[in-house]
Amino acid sequence: MSGVALETGTVASAAPGSVAQPAESAAAVTQTQGPSLVGGRLAGRHAVVTGAARGIGAAIAQALAAEGARITLLGRKLDRLRETEAMLPGSGHLALVVDVGDEAAVTAAFAAARAGIGPVDILVNNAGQAASAPLHKTSLDLWQQMLAVNLTGVFLCSRAAITDMTAARRGRIVNIASTAGQKGYAYVAAYTAAKHGVVGLTRSMALEYARAGITVNAVCPGYTDTDILREGVANAVAKTGRDADEILAEFLAGNPQKRAIQPDEVADAVRWLCGDAAASVTGQCISVSGGEVT
Ligand SMILES: NC(=O)c1ccc[n+]([C@@H]2O[C@H](COP(=O)([O-])OP(=O)(O)OC[C@H]3O[C@@H](n4cnc5c(N)ncnc54)[C@H](OP(=O)(O)O)[C@@H]3O)[C@@H](O)[C@H]2O)c1
Repeated sequence: MSGVALETGTVASAAPGSVAQPAESAAAVTQTQGPSLVGGRLAGRHAVVTGAARGIGAAIAQALAAEGARITLLGRKLDRLRETEAMLPGSGHLALVVDVGDEAAVTAAFAAARAGIGPVDILVNNAGQAASAPLHKTSLDLWQQMLAVNLTGVFLCSRAAITDMTAARRGRIVNIASTAGQKGYAYVAAYTAAKHGVVGLTRSMALEYARAGITVNAVCPGYTDTDILREGVANAVAKTGRDADEILAEFLAGNPQKRAIQPDEVADAVRWLCGDAAASVTGQCISVSGGEVT
């Protein structure tokens, strides 16, 4: 994801307006009743997906549920989570409110997920925010917010899930990083630093748990057709009065295919990594970016 200079002192990124919203009560829970889909490649597996209410996270929840997994959807808004949960194939899914940057809330959420569905087999660290600012206008609060949700959240959720996986001697962790974890972009330094951190964390965890039957990989989308991108374009239009299509084309200029990635394309890479067939793939950083990173 990149920031695109629009005028002096004004930048647009794919996620300029992603400011943290207060989480609802961490105790808020909803669960659909009944058995999971049988016969899918992930039947009987419990997959936790963070930031699952919308965008890429919702597509990942959909893809894993379609393979028979039971999903714990984590996010900040129970109503949005419930809407996504209601659309998932199968049943027995669980929705829990959590801020992934809050250690106590993450501990409580994983305890509730375990109590509701059982030990965690798959974790997809997808929750993220991207705020843009030139470095000299990046406040310490903004910096820490970007690290908290994009990097510390991955650490906290991974630590909370890993004991189930080491006990089972089987597990999958997929971290949704970004092309901003593979290369630098202007005007999103905090986000880019956090996503580079996610890639480093992924590589270290992959080595640490390689003998335990657990794979840890990063999927790195380029600009993807979600609220982040739409809000980025809208924000740039509001600031500059320029044409939305022109601004979108600037965002997508770095992608050789000159198009936005679709959430389903990211979800399908995650689905593959979560399957048994990807057992030898670990510590990788898979760019789903139309060739922006080669
Ligand atoms: N779209 C892109 O162009 C793009 C490109 C590269 C990488 N990515 C990465 O892909 C991931 C998903 O992004 P997206 O495009 O699907 O964005 P999105 O539509 O804005 O969705 C982000 C999700 O993360 C959740 N979230 C944000 N902060 C959270 C927190 N502190 N605790 C728990 N959940 C939180 C949001 O929950 P609420 O619904 O409660 O707000 C939302 O469900 C992010 O890690 C992002 O950095 C996106």
